[in-house]
Amino acid sequence: MPQNPFVYGEVVPAAAFVDREAELDRLSADLLAGQKVFLISPRRYGKSSLVRQALRSAARGGALTVDVTVSSYSSYVAFLEGYARSLVSVETRLDRARTWLRDLLGAVRPEVRIDDAGGRLELSFPSIRTDRDVSRLAGEVFALPGRIAEARGRRMTIALDEFQAIGAFNGGSVEHALRAAVQHQRQVGYVFSGSEPSLMERMLGRSRPFYNLPYDVQRLAHELWDDTRADGRRTAGLEDLHVTLKRLLGEHQTLFEGTWQRLTLAQRGALRAAVLEEGRELLSADVRARYRLSGASTVQASLAALVREDVLAREGDRYVVVDSLFREWVARQTF
Ligand SMILES: Nc1ncnc2c1ncn2[C@@H]1O[C@H](COP(=O)(O)OP(=O)(O)OP(=O)(O)O)[C@@H](O)[C@H]1O
Ligand SMILES: [Mg+2]
Repeated sequence: MPQNPFVYGEVVPAAAFVDREAELDRLSADLLAGQKVFLISPRRYGKSSLVRQALRSAARGGALTVDVTVSSYSSYVAFLEGYARSLVSVETRLDRARTWLRDLLGAVRPEVRIDDAGGRLELSFPSIRTDRDVSRLAGEVFALPGRIAEARGRRMTIALDEFQAIGAFNGGSVEHALRAAVQHQRQVGYVFSGSEPSLMERMLGRSRPFYNLPYDVQRLAHELWDDTRADGRRTAGLEDLHVTLKRLLGEHQTLFEGTWQRLTLAQRGALRAAVLEEGRELLSADVRARYRLSGASTVQASLAALVREDVLAREGDRYVVVDSLFREWVARQTF
C-alpha cells in the first residue's frame, strides 16, 4: 500500500498540496509582478501551505525566494538577524554571501560566522545597542531585498509568515518602517500572512479567499486511511468515517475537558450556543433565552474572550469554532 497521502498539522509538501488552483495562480503572479499581498485567514485555513507553494512557483518563474516566520523570533533584533541571514542566504556561495554582507550591510557592522557543519551562515549585529541603533539596522535590513534584487538582476519574492507577531516588536513602528521600505522595491514581491484576530477584524467585510477547512478534512482523511489500513481493508465508507471520528474524539477527551474546565460558566454557555446555532445571531433575545444566557453585553464579552483564547474565530457575521473536533465534542459531550 502507498504512503498515507493526507498530511495535516504542518505545511503540506508539494506532493500533498491539493486544489487552491485559482488562489495559487493569482498569488504567484502577484508575487512575480512585485506586488505586496496581505493574506489573512483564521488559523489552519492553509495560508502557509499556499504561500510555500506560491514561492515554489515563483522560483520556477526565476525569482529568488525567502520565507521567514516572524513569530519564531524572541526579539526585534533577533528577527532582523534572522531575516538578514535568510536574505543573504539566497546566495548559496558563502564567499559571495560574505562579500554581499560587507557591501550591503557594512554600515551596521555584521559579525559573520560559518557554523561548524560548514553550510550555514550565522549572522549577528553586536554593535547594535540603543533603540536608535535598532531603527538604523531595521532600515538597512528592510532595504536589503531591493539591493539584492538589483545586484543579482533577479526578481525576489519574500514571505513573512505569522506577520501579526511584528506588532510585539517595538510597537507599531516596525510595521511602518517595513511598509516604507517595501514600497520602493518594484522588483520584490511580498506576501504578509497571518491570523491575528485583530488583523482579521480590520479585514472584515472584504471578500475572503478561503472557503473550506482543509486541516479538518486532511486530519480526518489521514486517520481514516490509517484505520482502514490497520484493518487490512482497501475501501472505507461513511460508517467507517464515523468510527474514526469517535476514536479521535475519545483520544482528545482529556484535552477538551481541560479547555472546557478553564472557561467561565458564561463562556461555556456562549460557546454551546455558538456550536448549536452555527455561530449566528448569538446576541438575539431568542438565542439568549433558548440557551439561558444573560444580557447581550455579557454574551458579547464571553464571545470576545473565546476569540482571544483562539477557541472561536469571527467570520463575517458569525462565530466559528476554530477546532472542528472540539466543536463536535462540545456538541456531544456538554449540556
Ligand atoms: N492546499 C492544501 N492541500 C492539502 N491540505 C492542505 C492544503 N492547505 C492546507 N491543508 C491542510 O491544512 C493544514 C494547515 O495548513 P497550513 O499550516 O498551511 O495553514 P495555516 O493557515 O498556515 O495555519 P496557521 O494559521 O495555524 O499557521 C495542513 O497541515 C493540511 O492538513
Ligand atoms: Mg501558517
